[in-house]
This record gives sequence, structure tokens and C-alpha cells, in this order.
Amino acid sequence: MAAKGKARLRSAHWFGGEGKDAFNHRSWMKNQGLPHHLFDGRPVIGICNSWSELTPCNAHFRDLAEHVKRGVYEAGGFPLEFPTLSLGETLMRPTTMLFRNLMAMDVEESLRANPLDGVVLLAGCDKTTPGQLMGAASVDLPSLMVSGGPMLNGRFRDQTIGSGTHVWKFSEMVRAGEMTLADFTEAESCMSRSAGHCMTMGTASTMACMVEALGVGLGGNAAIPAVDSRRRVLAHMAGRRIVEMVREDLRLSRILTRAAFENAIRVLAAIGGSTNAILHLLAIAGRIGVPLTLADFERLGHDMPLLVDLMPAGRFLMEDFYYAGGLPAVMREILPLLHGEALTVAGCTLSEAVAQAPCWNPEVIRTREKPLQKKAGIAILTGNLCPGGAVIKPAAATRKLLRHRGPALVFESIEDFKARIDDPALEVDENSVLVLKGCGPRGYPGMPEVGNLPLPPKLLKRGITDMVRISDARMSGTAYGTVVLHVVPEAAAGGPLALVQNGDWIELDVAKRRLHLDVADDELARRRALWKAPPPAATRGYVRLYVEHVEQADRGCDLDFLVGSSGAPIPRESH
Ligand code: FES
Repeated sequence: MAAKGKARLRSAHWFGGEGKDAFNHRSWMKNQGLPHHLFDGRPVIGICNSWSELTPCNAHFRDLAEHVKRGVYEAGGFPLEFPTLSLGETLMRPTTMLFRNLMAMDVEESLRANPLDGVVLLAGCDKTTPGQLMGAASVDLPSLMVSGGPMLNGRFRDQTIGSGTHVWKFSEMVRAGEMTLADFTEAESCMSRSAGHCMTMGTASTMACMVEALGVGLGGNAAIPAVDSRRRVLAHMAGRRIVEMVREDLRLSRILTRAAFENAIRVLAAIGGSTNAILHLLAIAGRIGVPLTLADFERLGHDMPLLVDLMPAGRFLMEDFYYAGGLPAVMREILPLLHGEALTVAGCTLSEAVAQAPCWNPEVIRTREKPLQKKAGIAILTGNLCPGGAVIKPAAATRKLLRHRGPALVFESIEDFKARIDDPALEVDENSVLVLKGCGPRGYPGMPEVGNLPLPPKLLKRGITDMVRISDARMSGTAYGTVVLHVVPEAAAGGPLALVQNGDWIELDVAKRRLHLDVADDELARRRALWKAPPPAATRGYVRLYVEHVEQADRGCDLDFLVGSSGAPIPRESH
């Protein structure tokens, strides 16, 4: 069936030929109204769609997929849309992070098992982006991602409000008696008022920026609002381009190189991006075979200037960022610090892609000479409390708390925290260090975003707005505060965090990258001898598989047996 003169594509092993198998593969497909000529050896493009009404940030993806299809048809390809597991950040319990690797497995196996030559990945809400990229990286077909785009700016009465960031802010105001519950409820409708994902520089927007910085999305991918017609144009152009990528055999492994990851780390710092991106970049790199460690984030990110003035660290939102020039303007500004030769899915280098990118608003996107902060990278801490590392985002922290010594107030679980934090008799003051255990990948399970612990009401009422908080959990990219996260090893794995007791003195010194538990070694050894590992979080199913195989945060929390790639060999016939 393959047309003469054309290279035989992967899909031809299903749709080519004239025997019984080809009959089976084509005939059932034709029940969808597909004409015979579509099976003539043209590139078959999967549209990997994380649409779901349970993932509101991705609920507009059926429309986006239609525009990808237009582009694929226009370029002479044959588009076939298929669903994946979807991960709705606001609904799934205990946390979408528990299921990111499951989504990656779904994507990987769906791509390999089906007659696909290339794929357009549609992702938006936080974990759908890394989940799809991890799966695609383990298959290594020509792949191009289209992000769903951010929501329009939130507007509550006369204020601009940002996803997540204002939830934390308003809920603290309610707890402090500064906002009524009726106003709080009204703000719900005002924050999320259009299709799209969180419009702060939270994890979803950060990961959409990473897509563009890694070179796996077309220029403009990160910031075009979901409801702007230009997002549909981007999807259309992605459909056209993926067909060319198949013809060029431009696979993901040629895009996701060490240089691409180094670019992403630098961009992550320049945009003041989410700490969650560290986990996801480590996991994606592990799939594609690029060595990447926490030390790379420190080395490449620590001296990067913060150029983007977006919430939660700054003032503006993704819609403003788009109008200001979006990520191409940021990358042009820091181009001397990037690997400009890195190849992108557009078929050109990064330098070529951003060389002419204009900045229309220097308030939103600063120059390197006038940054918001001179050194803004996420800091990687070490010390006896986190032998495998921990992270803090200085740009979202209170400056004077970046060097702090205080007594620990320990919570053994998030339930313990919730039961006691509002108690007026709780022995706590602004110097206390809140320590939360049991929220790592194995312990919770899934490493939820609970690291930005709410402050005790009695301190809020005194005007205290930040405290040092330490945990093995993650933090929402929309959150802020002096919050130490991703402590490795986690408490459930027997890390020193498990041994911390009330009143232990803890020293945080971000300038020195130090996190120290001021307890003598022999006392820690005594406590370790008494420590008992918690029972496994599950005895069956995917969660059992997860807790038995999940890696620690310093390796990206992938499952150990999923690291690496199996490529895209043609599987054996099914009948
Ligand atoms: Fe989906 Fe924030 S909840 S991106």
C-alpha cells in the first residue's frame, strides 16, 4: 500500500500491504468514515489528548485537537486523536504527582503499540506536561508539544487576581479576620473565568515555558492565552510541522539534549519558575538518557537574574506576559547565557527562533541590566537534615528569613498539622521552624503540595506573614514563603527529617546553601535506633507498585524501572 518512492514509515507495518492483517487494520478504521486514500503511506500523526472534564485546565482540548488536525491534513498527514489518562490538579487525591508516572506509562505504551509515525502532545495542567513528555521520551518518535495556554487574568472587583496565589492570600485573610466568607466565595468565580490553566507563574505555566525552552514546542507556546485565537493558530501550525518532522525523522532525542536541559534550567531561574519543574526536568532527562542532577540546577541557575515580574513572586500574570513578548523575549534577553545552537522542533536553532523577539513591556520582562533580582535561581540546600538535598525558592521567600535559627515545631503528618495548627494554646512564635514529616513520594504517598504550611492564626493576627517551614513535600508553584521542600531522604525512607523532635534547633542559611539540625550525632544515632518505618501506604494495585519503586526527589520521583527508553520498535502482530 505504501506509495512508490516514499520511505516506509512505521505506520505502514499496520496499514500497508494487502493481506489479512492489513485488511483488519484498515477495515475497522474505515468505520469512522476514513477514505481509502488516507492509508497510502502518508505520515500517521497521533494527537495525544489529555482532555477531561475532570481536568478543567485541559477541558478545551477537543477544540485544540481539531486545529492540530487541520494542520496535519494540510501538510499531507493522517491525524488520529487518542485519549490518555488525565491529571486534574485541583480534584485528584491524594495528589496528581502520585499518578504522573502512571500517565507517562499510558502515553509510552499507547505510542509504541499503535501505528504512529509522530505525535502532537496536548498538555496543560501541571502534571500532564511532564507525564506526556516522559512517556514520549521513552519512545522517541518525532514529537511536538502544544500547551493548552493560560486562563485570562483573574479579576475580583477592582483587583487583578492570580490562580492559586490569591487563594493562599485570601484564605489567610479569612483566617486573620480580614475578609468575609461571602467575599471569599465570590472570588471563586472571578479567579477562573476562562478556559486554560493557572495564569500565575505556577507549575503549569512554568512547564509550558520549559516546553518552549527545551525546544519541544513552537515559539509562543508558553504564554498565548488559551482563549486567544492565536492559540488555535499555534495548534494548526504544530499539525503542519509534525508532518515535516516525520519526513525529516526529527526525533525527540535530537531536541532533548544536554544543551536543551541546561537552557531550561537557566530559563527556569529567569522566569522565577516553580520548584516542581526540578522534579519534572530530572524525570524527563532520565527517560531520554541525559545525565542531570540537582547540582546542575545550583551551578546553572544560582547566578541567573530574575527577569519576569509574575505572581507568585511578582505582580503580573501570564496574559500580561504574552502581551509583553512572552518567553521568546526572555530567551532573547538571556541568549548569551543559553546554548543558542540547540535544535528546536521548528527545525531551526534556538538562536534563530528568538533572535528578533521583541519585548513590548520592560516592566513585565526586565533586561539583564535591570532585573527584579540579580540572583534568582532555586537554591539547592545540603546539610545533615537533608543529605540528599532540599530546595528553596529564594525569590518567593522573605529576605530576612533566608538566614534563620529557630526551634522546631514538629508535625508527624499533615493530619497532625491540621488538628493542631489553629489551637490558640499551640506553643509557637515567629522564630519557630515548622517541620512537617511523612509527605514525601513514598510516605504520603505521592509527595503532595502541602509544603507551604498555613501559619498559625494567632501569629497571623499579630501581622506575621511568613515563617521558615521544612518538609519532604512539594509546594504549589503558585505559592510563596520561606519554605524548604523536597528534603531527601524523606521521613518515610528513614531520612534525618524523621528524627527531628520539638525544640531541636534548626539553622537555615540560604547564602551558604546550608540546612543544619543542631543535634549531636550520638543523640541522632540513639533516635535512629528507636525509629520504626511506617507501614507501606498500599498493599495492592498501582499505588503498591509506586511506593515500592518510586525514586527520591533528587532523582525526579520516577519509578526506577521506567527510567530510560525502549524506543519505538514495531511490536509483534496481534492476531
Ligand atoms: Fe490546572 Fe493549575 S490547577 S494548571
